[in-house]
Amino acid sequence: MLENDLFLKACRREPVDRVPVWLMRQAGRYQASYRAVRAGVSFLELCRSPELIAQVTAAPIDEFGFDAAIVFSDILIALPAMGLDLSFEKGEKGKGDGGPRIGNPVRTRSDIAALRVPDPEQDLRFVLEGVRAIRRVLAERVPLIGFVGGPFTVASYAVEGGSQGFTRLKTMLYADPRGAHDLFEKLTLAAIVQLQAQVAAGVQAVQIFESWLGELGREDLEEFSFPYLARIADALRRTGVPTIFFATGTSTHLAPIGKLGYDVVSVDWRIPLAEARRQLPDLALQGNLDSTLLLGPRETLLVRARGLLDAVGHHPGYIFNLGHGIQPSTPPENVKALVDAVHAFRP
Ligand code: CP3
Repeated sequence: MLENDLFLKACRREPVDRVPVWLMRQAGRYQASYRAVRAGVSFLELCRSPELIAQVTAAPIDEFGFDAAIVFSDILIALPAMGLDLSFEKGEKGKGDGGPRIGNPVRTRSDIAALRVPDPEQDLRFVLEGVRAIRRVLAERVPLIGFVGGPFTVASYAVEGGSQGFTRLKTMLYADPRGAHDLFEKLTLAAIVQLQAQVAAGVQAVQIFESWLGELGREDLEEFSFPYLARIADALRRTGVPTIFFATGTSTHLAPIGKLGYDVVSVDWRIPLAEARRQLPDLALQGNLDSTLLLGPRETLLVRARGLLDAVGHHPGYIFNLGHGIQPSTPPENVKALVDAVHAFRP
């Protein structure tokens, strides 16, 4: 039995005594404890060590009192098992800001045909062992969220070779729609098997990170994205765990996103939460503080957080979060002040 199940209750739109809060990228470089771990290992070494995954995932729960933990991993972690040569570059002056690089990006039909759908038990054992280790360390204090990247967002890295925009992938949609569908089909299967394995290993909710979906217009979303996202939701429904859909730049498409079959829609900061609430009356909502507010000043941060709580916090089905991930330059004291303020609010 979970000591604190506020997050799961909010996902199911059940009444809560206080609003649950967790933050995307709550484990990361803004924490001294994370930087200390990363001083000894590379990012991929960290992602492949179940013991370190458990330590890094639990740290923000201990430090800030979040109401949910999220498995420490990355949306690109399955790419090596699919046949892609993934590395994370150290940020060097004049050489970009660091970040993912794929040595053999997917450019042709034969590249797409060569992609393997991973077998999580074989290829991603460290993630599943990580999930089991986290559950032990958390000791039923808060629920654990698993995740994968959405097909479009993962495809953007696989095709572009890194964080290099979207032109190659979007050109593929128009020049070779059949090939693009084959690519999304494989990434959809990869997402489903990973999430099913994470649930079997012990995650208690799942989130799809479709961070760059706002690049597509409605017509392309309907052809190349929504059918795949609906299939992922459908496959997950059978596991019984709550499902969260997150994207940015997509508030012009909330009505169709609300029909994909997810329990919770995580919205970015571009739309007033009350407006999202009106457009999605029958779903739980997560979001949507601008992560830049965490850089300060503290009064503005707390006034804006209070604004979100006043707008939607009085009705069941609300999870406080950011509109996108925490930024590395965030002062940890502001994170603490934010969590305390959300916890002090009474619906
Ligand atoms: O939320 C969490 O705390 C869980 C862990 C998590 C990470 N990445 C850890 C990470 C999650 C859920 C992600 C998702 C992810 N990864 C996304 C989608 C969410 C988003 O923020 O839009 C994307 C696009 C990626 C791909 C990725 N991974 C990029 C572009 C980068 C480099 C940018 C950066 O922040 O350094 C990463 C690396 C990465 N993933 C780090 C962390 C903590 C930083 C690695 C380090 O230097 O320690």
